[in-house]
Amino acid sequence: MLRGFLLIFVLASIVIVAICGFRGEHSPRTPWEIFPDMVRQQKVRAQSPIDFFGDGRGPRLPIANTIPIGYEMPKPQLKTLPGVPPTANAPRPEPASNRIGFSVGTDYYNTGKMGNNWGTGIPVPITEQLMQRGQQRFNINCSVCHGLTAAGNGVAKLYGLNTVATLQDERIRKMADGEIFNTVTNGKNTMMSYGGNVPVADRWAIIAYLRALQRSQNAAAADVPPEELAKLDKAEAKPPEAKPGASPEAQKK
Ligand code: HEC
Repeated sequence: MLRGFLLIFVLASIVIVAICGFRGEHSPRTPWEIFPDMVRQQKVRAQSPIDFFGDGRGPRLPIANTIPIGYEMPKPQLKTLPGVPPTANAPRPEPASNRIGFSVGTDYYNTGKMGNNWGTGIPVPITEQLMQRGQQRFNINCSVCHGLTAAGNGVAKLYGLNTVATLQDERIRKMADGEIFNTVTNGKNTMMSYGGNVPVADRWAIIAYLRALQRSQNAAAADVPPEELAKLDKAEAKPPEAKPGASPEAQKK
């Protein structure tokens, strides 16, 4: 019994070693692959020709008018260099590459850190233009999850992304700007990073706008200028039907 088992065991071992054990033999044939390797697939190798396209080139040129992520189109009103006639091809004072602004360097503007700590403050001048840019960028990049008022009720939440945080939370309101900058740049827990999509300047614009949103939802009556306060009081006194936004929902039902 034991002898029979040993014999079978030895033979089986030899067979297994013979099939699987030896390596290094060259063969022109494609090896067996139970799980196909992605090295062998239909694809165009870099810089190699292909008959598929009319011009025979494998690598394709970018489609006309393609712009890299984060690139801002040069503004027509930019001044040209002194002494250079203002033609379309004339060199601009600022090289276009300066406009592609992703994190470089270790300063506060690029990392949100001052030394080892999160810094706070918006390191660019706050202008109306910046706020508008921030609003637009927030609505594009953040509102899908965090909602238009940053209350954490964006459409992604309706579809099951339950961990979306409200940015109206006191903790986030008190959070250093630099830490928020870092969350946008590198992500945090279940939020992925937006550092590769949102250029540095836009990240600061978004944070400036986010601060305005937070203020708007947590303002006291004392923050409102007196003449505006009087208008608000009047609006409060009106019956609820007169308020905009109440009617369309009611009509649908
Ligand atoms: C795809 C959904 C999604 C998008 C888009 C998104 N976030 Fe978030 N965000 C999350 C989730 C989920 C969390 C909660 C992370 C956790 O703690 O698990 C979060 C948390 C945060 C926090 C709190 C981090 C902390 O310290 O607790 C901040 C601040 C924030 N997001 C800012 C932004 C800003 C600004 C944008 C736009 C650039 C943005 N998020 C875009 C999903 C998103």
